[in-house]
Amino acid sequence: MNIGLDLSRSGLGEEEILSLRGKLQAAERDLHKGEEGFNGWMTLPEEYDREEYYRILEAADRIKKSCDVLIVIGIGGSYLGAKACIEMMSHSFSAVIEESKRKEPMILFAGQNISPNYHRELLEAVEDKDVCLCVISKSGTTAEPNIAFAVLKEMMYEKYGRKEAGKRIFVVTDRSKGTLREEADREGYESFVIPEDIGGRYSVLTPAGLLPIAAAGIDIEDIIKGAADGAEEFRGTDLNTNICCRYAAARYLLDKAGKKIEIYECYEPKMYFFGEWLKQLFGESEGKEGKGIFPALLQFTTDLHSMGQFIQEGSQIFFETVINIEKTEKDIRIPDTAAPAFRGKTMHQVNMAVVKGVAEAHADDKIPVIFIDISEISPYLFGKMVYFFERSCALKGYMMGINPFDQPGVEKYKAFMKEKLNE
Ligand code: PA5
Repeated sequence: MNIGLDLSRSGLGEEEILSLRGKLQAAERDLHKGEEGFNGWMTLPEEYDREEYYRILEAADRIKKSCDVLIVIGIGGSYLGAKACIEMMSHSFSAVIEESKRKEPMILFAGQNISPNYHRELLEAVEDKDVCLCVISKSGTTAEPNIAFAVLKEMMYEKYGRKEAGKRIFVVTDRSKGTLREEADREGYESFVIPEDIGGRYSVLTPAGLLPIAAAGIDIEDIIKGAADGAEEFRGTDLNTNICCRYAAARYLLDKAGKKIEIYECYEPKMYFFGEWLKQLFGESEGKEGKGIFPALLQFTTDLHSMGQFIQEGSQIFFETVINIEKTEKDIRIPDTAAPAFRGKTMHQVNMAVVKGVAEAHADDKIPVIFIDISEISPYLFGKMVYFFERSCALKGYMMGINPFDQPGVEKYKAFMKEKLNE
Protein backbone atom coordinates (compact mmCIF):
# COMPACT_ATOMS: atom_id res chain seq x y z
CA MET A 1 0.00 0.00 0.00
CA ASN A 2 1.71 3.15 -1.04
CA ILE A 3 1.76 6.58 -2.66
CA GLY A 4 3.80 7.27 -5.79
CA LEU A 5 4.65 10.44 -7.70
CA ASP A 6 5.14 10.52 -11.47
CA LEU A 7 6.56 13.74 -12.94
CA SER A 8 7.30 12.26 -16.37
CA ARG A 9 4.47 14.26 -18.01
CA SER A 10 5.09 17.46 -16.04
CA GLY A 11 7.49 18.94 -18.61
CA LEU A 12 10.05 19.48 -15.82
CA GLY A 13 13.61 18.27 -16.14
CA GLU A 14 15.45 16.39 -13.41
CA GLU A 15 18.17 19.03 -13.27
CA GLU A 16 15.65 21.80 -12.68
CA ILE A 17 14.15 19.86 -9.79
CA LEU A 18 17.51 19.08 -8.22
CA SER A 19 18.60 22.72 -8.56
CA LEU A 20 16.11 23.58 -5.79
CA ARG A 21 18.13 21.68 -3.18
CA GLY A 22 19.30 24.82 -1.33
CA LYS A 23 15.89 26.47 -1.35
CA LEU A 24 14.25 23.33 -0.06
CA GLN A 25 16.77 22.94 2.75
CA ALA A 26 16.14 26.54 3.81
CA ALA A 27 12.37 25.82 3.78
CA GLU A 28 12.93 22.73 5.91
CA ARG A 29 14.90 24.81 8.45
CA ASP A 30 12.06 27.35 8.61
CA LEU A 31 9.56 24.55 9.10
CA HIS A 32 11.49 23.15 12.04
CA LYS A 33 12.01 26.48 13.77
CA GLY A 34 8.50 26.18 15.12
CA GLU A 35 8.48 29.89 15.84
CA GLU A 36 5.01 30.28 14.34
CA GLY A 37 3.66 27.89 16.97
CA PHE A 38 1.63 26.11 14.29
CA ASN A 39 3.58 22.99 13.50
CA GLY A 40 2.20 20.59 16.09
CA TRP A 41 0.79 18.53 13.18
CA MET A 42 4.34 17.43 12.28
CA THR A 43 4.86 15.23 15.32
CA LEU A 44 1.19 14.48 16.00
CA PRO A 45 1.11 10.94 14.51
CA GLU A 46 3.78 9.86 17.02
CA GLU A 47 3.07 12.16 19.93
CA TYR A 48 -0.72 12.28 20.15
CA ASP A 49 -2.43 12.22 23.53
CA ARG A 50 -3.04 8.48 24.23
CA GLU A 51 -5.59 9.09 26.98
CA GLU A 52 -7.64 11.29 24.68
CA TYR A 53 -7.30 8.77 21.85
CA TYR A 54 -8.96 6.05 23.97
CA ARG A 55 -11.66 8.50 25.00
CA ILE A 56 -12.36 9.12 21.30
CA LEU A 57 -12.84 5.38 20.78
CA GLU A 58 -15.16 5.13 23.79
CA ALA A 59 -17.17 8.18 22.76
CA ALA A 60 -17.46 6.83 19.20
CA ASP A 61 -18.80 3.55 20.61
CA ARG A 62 -21.37 5.37 22.71
CA ILE A 63 -22.42 7.44 19.68
CA LYS A 64 -22.81 4.29 17.58
CA LYS A 65 -24.98 2.64 20.24
CA SER A 66 -27.19 5.61 21.01
CA CYS A 67 -28.18 7.19 17.70
CA ASP A 68 -29.26 6.67 14.10
CA VAL A 69 -27.77 9.97 13.02
CA LEU A 70 -24.67 11.85 14.12
CA ILE A 71 -24.75 15.50 13.05
CA VAL A 72 -21.25 16.92 12.77
CA ILE A 73 -21.23 20.71 13.05
CA GLY A 74 -18.21 22.60 11.74
CA ILE A 75 -16.74 24.45 8.77
CA GLY A 76 -13.43 24.69 6.89
CA GLY A 77 -10.70 22.80 8.70
CA SER A 78 -13.23 21.74 11.32
CA TYR A 79 -15.22 19.70 8.79
CA LEU A 80 -13.46 18.99 5.49
CA GLY A 81 -10.96 16.38 6.73
CA ALA A 82 -13.64 14.27 8.42
CA LYS A 83 -15.99 14.65 5.46
CA ALA A 84 -13.20 13.66 3.03
CA CYS A 85 -12.33 10.52 4.98
CA ILE A 86 -15.92 9.44 5.60
CA GLU A 87 -16.86 9.90 1.91
CA MET A 88 -13.78 7.95 0.82
CA MET A 89 -14.39 5.04 3.13
CA SER A 90 -18.19 4.76 3.10
CA HIS A 91 -20.73 3.16 0.81
CA SER A 92 -21.64 5.68 -1.91
CA PHE A 93 -25.36 5.11 -1.27
CA SER A 94 -25.38 4.73 2.51
CA ALA A 95 -28.31 7.15 2.63
CA VAL A 96 -30.59 4.59 0.97
CA ILE A 97 -29.31 1.52 2.78
CA GLU A 98 -31.91 0.28 5.23
CA GLU A 99 -31.26 1.35 8.80
CA SER A 100 -31.46 -2.23 10.10
CA LYS A 101 -28.56 -3.20 7.81
CA ARG A 102 -26.36 -0.31 8.93
CA LYS A 103 -23.87 -0.86 11.74
CA GLU A 104 -22.95 2.79 12.13
CA PRO A 105 -25.04 5.92 12.46
CA MET A 106 -25.53 8.00 9.37
CA ILE A 107 -23.16 10.99 9.49
CA LEU A 108 -24.70 14.28 8.40
CA PHE A 109 -23.00 17.67 8.37
CA ALA A 110 -24.28 21.07 9.48
CA GLY A 111 -22.86 24.52 10.10
CA GLN A 112 -20.88 24.53 6.85
CA ASN A 113 -23.29 27.12 5.45
CA ILE A 114 -25.97 29.51 6.77
CA SER A 115 -28.72 28.24 4.49
CA PRO A 116 -32.10 28.20 6.24
CA ASN A 117 -33.33 25.66 3.65
CA TYR A 118 -30.48 23.29 4.45
CA HIS A 119 -30.93 23.51 8.20
CA ARG A 120 -34.76 23.44 8.15
CA GLU A 121 -34.65 20.34 5.95
CA LEU A 122 -32.04 18.77 8.22
CA LEU A 123 -34.39 19.29 11.19
CA GLU A 124 -37.20 17.68 9.17
CA ALA A 125 -34.99 14.76 8.14
CA VAL A 126 -34.02 13.83 11.70
CA GLU A 127 -37.45 14.43 13.28
CA ASP A 128 -38.07 10.71 13.96
CA LYS A 129 -34.43 9.73 14.45
CA ASP A 130 -32.24 9.33 17.47
CA VAL A 131 -29.56 11.98 17.19
CA CYS A 132 -26.16 12.90 18.63
CA LEU A 133 -24.30 16.14 17.91
CA CYS A 134 -20.58 16.64 17.50
CA VAL A 135 -19.75 20.33 17.38
CA ILE A 136 -16.25 21.26 16.23
CA SER A 137 -14.81 24.76 16.38
CA LYS A 138 -11.31 25.66 17.49
CA SER A 139 -12.13 29.31 18.09
CA GLY A 140 -15.64 28.54 19.28
CA THR A 141 -16.90 31.75 17.68
CA THR A 142 -17.21 30.97 13.95
CA ALA A 143 -20.59 32.19 12.67
CA GLU A 144 -21.80 29.14 10.73
CA PRO A 145 -21.24 26.42 13.36
CA ASN A 146 -22.25 28.78 16.15
CA ILE A 147 -25.67 29.36 14.54
CA ALA A 148 -26.18 25.71 13.55
CA PHE A 149 -25.29 24.51 17.05
CA ALA A 150 -27.78 26.93 18.61
CA VAL A 151 -30.54 25.71 16.26
CA LEU A 152 -29.77 22.00 16.66
CA LYS A 153 -29.28 22.25 20.43
CA GLU A 154 -32.82 23.63 20.70
CA MET A 155 -34.08 20.60 18.77
CA MET A 156 -32.10 18.31 21.11
CA TYR A 157 -33.49 19.95 24.25
CA GLU A 158 -37.03 19.56 22.95
CA LYS A 159 -36.43 15.94 21.97
CA TYR A 160 -34.57 14.70 25.03
CA GLY A 161 -34.68 17.38 27.74
CA ARG A 162 -31.59 19.32 28.70
CA LYS A 163 -29.92 16.60 30.81
CA GLU A 164 -30.23 13.70 28.35
CA ALA A 165 -29.39 16.03 25.43
CA GLY A 166 -26.19 16.95 27.26
CA LYS A 167 -25.08 13.29 27.15
CA ARG A 168 -25.59 13.30 23.38
CA ILE A 169 -23.53 16.41 22.67
CA PHE A 170 -19.80 16.09 22.03
CA VAL A 171 -17.53 19.12 21.69
CA VAL A 172 -14.14 19.51 20.00
CA THR A 173 -12.50 22.87 20.68
CA ASP A 174 -9.54 24.67 22.23
CA ARG A 175 -8.18 23.37 25.55
CA SER A 176 -8.98 26.52 27.55
CA LYS A 177 -10.16 29.40 25.35
CA GLY A 178 -13.42 30.42 23.66
CA THR A 179 -17.14 30.37 24.33
CA LEU A 180 -17.54 26.76 23.19
CA ARG A 181 -14.98 25.63 25.77
CA GLU A 182 -16.81 27.62 28.45
CA GLU A 183 -20.14 26.10 27.44
CA ALA A 184 -18.77 22.54 27.31
CA ASP A 185 -17.31 22.91 30.83
CA ARG A 186 -20.44 24.57 32.20
CA GLU A 187 -22.88 22.04 30.68
CA GLY A 188 -20.67 19.00 31.24
CA TYR A 189 -20.55 17.99 27.56
CA GLU A 190 -17.85 15.42 26.81
CA SER A 191 -15.10 17.42 25.15
CA PHE A 192 -11.89 16.95 23.17
CA VAL A 193 -9.03 19.27 22.33
CA ILE A 194 -7.66 20.76 19.11
CA PRO A 195 -4.10 21.53 20.23
CA GLU A 196 -3.15 25.20 20.22
CA ASP A 197 -0.26 24.65 17.79
CA ILE A 198 -2.37 22.98 15.06
CA GLY A 199 -4.34 25.18 12.66
CA GLY A 200 -7.76 24.20 11.25
CA ARG A 201 -6.61 22.94 7.86
CA TYR A 202 -3.88 20.79 9.48
CA SER A 203 -6.23 19.37 12.14
CA VAL A 204 -7.77 16.25 10.57
CA LEU A 205 -5.61 13.92 12.69
CA THR A 206 -6.72 15.65 15.92
CA PRO A 207 -10.11 14.82 17.50
CA ALA A 208 -11.62 17.32 14.99
CA GLY A 209 -11.27 14.60 12.36
CA LEU A 210 -10.82 11.46 14.40
CA LEU A 211 -14.02 11.59 16.49
CA PRO A 212 -16.49 11.78 13.56
CA ILE A 213 -14.36 9.37 11.55
CA ALA A 214 -14.34 6.81 14.38
CA ALA A 215 -18.09 7.25 14.88
CA ALA A 216 -18.50 6.38 11.19
CA GLY A 217 -16.87 3.02 11.95
CA ILE A 218 -13.54 3.75 10.25
CA ASP A 219 -10.33 2.38 11.76
CA ILE A 220 -8.54 5.44 13.15
CA GLU A 221 -5.59 3.35 14.35
CA ASP A 222 -4.79 2.57 10.71
CA ILE A 223 -5.10 6.25 9.81
CA ILE A 224 -2.59 7.23 12.48
CA LYS A 225 -0.26 4.38 11.47
CA GLY A 226 -0.37 5.64 7.86
CA ALA A 227 0.42 9.19 8.97
CA ALA A 228 3.24 7.99 11.25
CA ASP A 229 4.76 5.97 8.39
CA GLY A 230 4.38 9.06 6.19
CA ALA A 231 6.21 11.19 8.77
CA GLU A 232 9.07 8.70 8.65
CA GLU A 233 9.12 8.17 4.87
CA PHE A 234 8.83 11.86 3.89
CA ARG A 235 11.36 13.14 6.45
CA GLY A 236 14.41 15.04 5.13
CA THR A 237 15.05 16.90 1.89
CA ASP A 238 16.55 14.41 -0.55
CA LEU A 239 15.17 15.59 -3.88
CA ASN A 240 16.31 12.39 -5.60
CA THR A 241 14.05 10.13 -3.58
CA ASN A 242 11.67 12.06 -1.33
CA ILE A 243 8.39 12.34 -3.28
CA CYS A 244 6.93 14.83 -0.82
CA CYS A 245 9.82 17.21 -1.54
CA ARG A 246 9.69 16.47 -5.26
CA TYR A 247 6.01 17.42 -5.37
CA ALA A 248 6.79 20.69 -3.53
CA ALA A 249 9.66 21.40 -5.96
CA ALA A 250 7.53 20.62 -9.04
CA ARG A 251 4.77 22.96 -7.85
CA TYR A 252 7.34 25.67 -7.09
CA LEU A 253 8.79 25.44 -10.62
CA LEU A 254 5.38 25.39 -12.33
CA ASP A 255 4.28 28.38 -10.24
CA LYS A 256 7.41 30.27 -11.36
CA ALA A 257 6.68 29.29 -14.96
CA GLY A 258 3.32 31.10 -14.72
CA LYS A 259 1.06 28.10 -14.10
CA LYS A 260 -1.15 29.81 -11.54
CA ILE A 261 -3.89 27.19 -11.28
CA GLU A 262 -3.49 23.59 -10.16
CA ILE A 263 -6.42 21.40 -11.13
CA TYR A 264 -6.83 18.38 -8.88
CA GLU A 265 -8.51 15.61 -10.83
CA CYS A 266 -9.87 12.33 -9.61
CA TYR A 267 -11.67 9.59 -11.47
CA GLU A 268 -13.24 8.12 -8.32
CA PRO A 269 -16.24 10.03 -6.91
CA LYS A 270 -15.39 8.82 -3.39
CA MET A 271 -12.34 11.11 -3.60
CA TYR A 272 -14.33 14.27 -4.29
CA PHE A 273 -14.19 15.66 -0.77
CA PHE A 274 -10.54 14.74 -0.46
CA GLY A 275 -10.15 17.18 -3.35
CA GLU A 276 -12.15 19.76 -1.38
CA TRP A 277 -9.82 19.21 1.57
CA LEU A 278 -6.83 19.73 -0.76
CA LYS A 279 -8.35 22.97 -2.03
CA GLN A 280 -8.54 24.37 1.47
CA LEU A 281 -5.09 23.13 2.50
CA PHE A 282 -3.33 24.68 -0.47
CA GLY A 283 -5.59 27.68 -1.03
CA GLU A 284 -5.52 28.97 2.53
CA SER A 285 -1.85 28.13 3.05
CA GLU A 286 -0.45 29.70 -0.14
CA GLY A 287 -2.83 32.43 -1.20
CA LYS A 288 -1.31 35.51 0.41
CA GLU A 289 0.91 38.50 -0.34
CA GLY A 290 -0.28 38.40 -3.96
CA LYS A 291 1.23 34.94 -4.40
CA GLY A 292 0.13 31.33 -4.64
CA ILE A 293 -1.30 28.72 -6.97
CA PHE A 294 -5.13 28.68 -7.10
CA PRO A 295 -6.30 25.12 -6.38
CA ALA A 296 -9.25 23.87 -8.43
CA LEU A 297 -11.02 20.53 -8.51
CA LEU A 298 -12.56 18.50 -11.31
CA GLN A 299 -14.36 15.18 -11.09
CA PHE A 300 -13.46 12.97 -14.04
CA THR A 301 -14.73 11.42 -16.20
CA THR A 302 -17.88 13.54 -15.47
CA ASP A 303 -16.22 16.92 -16.00
CA LEU A 304 -14.41 15.82 -19.15
CA HIS A 305 -17.80 16.33 -20.79
CA SER A 306 -18.00 19.93 -19.61
CA MET A 307 -14.43 21.13 -19.03
CA GLY A 308 -12.44 18.74 -21.25
CA GLN A 309 -12.42 21.18 -24.16
CA PHE A 310 -11.03 24.04 -22.07
CA ILE A 311 -8.32 21.90 -20.59
CA GLN A 312 -7.20 20.61 -23.95
CA GLU A 313 -7.24 23.89 -25.85
CA GLY A 314 -8.09 26.82 -23.53
CA SER A 315 -5.68 29.37 -22.07
CA GLN A 316 -2.83 27.45 -20.52
CA ILE A 317 -2.68 29.03 -17.09
CA PHE A 318 -2.92 25.74 -15.24
CA PHE A 319 -1.33 22.37 -14.61
CA GLU A 320 -3.07 19.15 -13.64
CA THR A 321 -2.52 16.88 -10.66
CA VAL A 322 -4.26 13.55 -11.07
CA ILE A 323 -5.04 11.71 -7.84
CA ASN A 324 -5.00 8.29 -9.39
CA ILE A 325 -6.46 5.35 -7.46
CA GLU A 326 -4.78 2.30 -8.99
CA LYS A 327 -6.82 -0.58 -7.54
CA THR A 328 -10.55 -0.72 -7.06
CA GLU A 329 -12.25 -2.67 -4.29
CA LYS A 330 -15.31 -3.45 -6.39
CA ASP A 331 -15.48 -3.93 -10.14
CA ILE A 332 -18.09 -4.76 -12.79
CA ARG A 333 -17.59 -6.73 -15.99
CA ILE A 334 -19.23 -4.79 -18.81
CA PRO A 335 -21.98 -6.89 -20.47
CA ASP A 336 -21.83 -7.80 -24.14
CA THR A 337 -24.74 -5.51 -24.93
CA ALA A 338 -22.39 -2.51 -24.54
CA ALA A 339 -20.54 -1.04 -27.54
CA PRO A 340 -17.89 -3.43 -28.95
CA ALA A 341 -14.96 -1.36 -27.60
CA PHE A 342 -16.09 -2.00 -24.01
CA ARG A 343 -17.33 -5.61 -24.18
CA GLY A 344 -15.52 -8.08 -21.98
CA LYS A 345 -13.61 -5.35 -20.17
CA THR A 346 -14.28 -4.22 -16.63
CA MET A 347 -15.39 -0.68 -15.71
CA HIS A 348 -12.09 -0.17 -13.89
CA GLN A 349 -10.13 -1.12 -17.03
CA VAL A 350 -12.06 1.44 -19.06
CA ASN A 351 -11.67 4.10 -16.33
CA MET A 352 -7.89 3.49 -16.28
CA ALA A 353 -7.73 3.68 -20.09
CA VAL A 354 -9.35 7.11 -19.89
CA VAL A 355 -6.87 8.20 -17.18
CA LYS A 356 -3.95 7.33 -19.44
CA GLY A 357 -5.53 8.54 -22.69
CA VAL A 358 -6.45 11.93 -21.24
CA ALA A 359 -3.01 12.42 -19.67
CA GLU A 360 -1.32 11.63 -22.97
CA ALA A 361 -3.64 13.92 -24.96
CA HIS A 362 -2.97 16.78 -22.53
CA ALA A 363 0.78 16.19 -22.34
CA ASP A 364 0.77 16.15 -26.16
CA ASP A 365 -0.49 19.75 -26.06
CA LYS A 366 2.25 20.62 -23.54
CA ILE A 367 -0.03 20.80 -20.51
CA PRO A 368 1.99 19.75 -17.44
CA VAL A 369 0.43 16.72 -15.78
CA ILE A 370 1.53 15.39 -12.39
CA PHE A 371 0.41 11.95 -11.27
CA ILE A 372 -0.02 11.04 -7.63
CA ASP A 373 -0.64 7.31 -7.64
CA ILE A 374 -2.49 5.87 -4.66
CA SER A 375 -2.44 2.08 -4.70
CA GLU A 376 -5.93 1.80 -3.16
CA ILE A 377 -8.47 3.50 -0.93
CA SER A 378 -7.79 2.62 2.71
CA PRO A 379 -7.66 4.31 6.13
CA TYR A 380 -3.89 3.70 6.21
CA LEU A 381 -3.36 5.51 2.91
CA PHE A 382 -5.74 8.29 3.93
CA GLY A 383 -3.41 8.99 6.90
CA LYS A 384 -0.32 8.80 4.73
CA MET A 385 -1.80 11.11 2.07
CA VAL A 386 -2.76 13.66 4.71
CA TYR A 387 0.83 13.76 5.93
CA PHE A 388 2.24 13.83 2.40
CA PHE A 389 0.14 16.82 1.33
CA GLU A 390 0.46 18.74 4.62
CA ARG A 391 4.25 18.52 4.60
CA SER A 392 4.58 19.24 0.89
CA CYS A 393 2.29 22.26 1.23
CA ALA A 394 4.22 23.67 4.20
CA LEU A 395 7.57 23.24 2.40
CA LYS A 396 6.32 24.92 -0.79
CA GLY A 397 4.94 27.80 1.30
CA TYR A 398 8.30 28.46 2.90
CA MET A 399 10.05 28.04 -0.48
CA MET A 400 7.94 30.89 -1.85
CA GLY A 401 8.61 33.04 1.21
CA ILE A 402 5.20 33.05 2.89
CA ASN A 403 3.95 31.69 6.21
CA PRO A 404 1.88 28.62 5.27
CA PHE A 405 0.11 28.50 8.63
CA ASP A 406 -1.64 31.85 8.98
CA GLN A 407 -4.75 33.22 7.21
CA PRO A 408 -4.79 36.99 7.79
CA GLY A 409 -7.12 37.60 4.82
CA VAL A 410 -9.95 35.54 6.32
CA GLU A 411 -10.45 38.12 9.08
CA LYS A 412 -11.27 40.95 6.68
CA TYR A 413 -14.63 39.71 5.37
CA LYS A 414 -15.62 38.77 8.92
CA ALA A 415 -15.14 42.39 10.04
CA PHE A 416 -17.29 43.64 7.13
CA MET A 417 -19.94 41.02 7.93
CA LYS A 418 -20.13 42.22 11.55
CA GLU A 419 -20.67 45.78 10.32
CA LYS A 420 -23.57 44.62 8.14
CA LEU A 421 -25.16 42.77 11.06
CA ASN A 422 -25.01 45.91 13.17
CA GLU A 423 -26.63 48.09 10.50
O1 PA5 B 1 -8.15 26.41 8.51
C1 PA5 B 1 -8.74 27.25 9.18
O2 PA5 B 1 -8.18 27.86 10.10
C2 PA5 B 1 -10.20 27.55 8.94
O3 PA5 B 1 -10.70 26.91 7.82
C3 PA5 B 1 -11.01 27.09 10.15
O4 PA5 B 1 -10.86 25.71 10.33
C4 PA5 B 1 -12.48 27.45 9.97
O5 PA5 B 1 -12.64 28.84 9.75
C5 PA5 B 1 -13.27 27.06 11.22
O6 PA5 B 1 -12.72 27.67 12.34
P1 PA5 B 1 -13.11 27.20 13.79
O7 PA5 B 1 -12.64 25.81 13.97
O8 PA5 B 1 -12.42 28.16 14.71
O9 PA5 B 1 -14.62 27.29 13.88
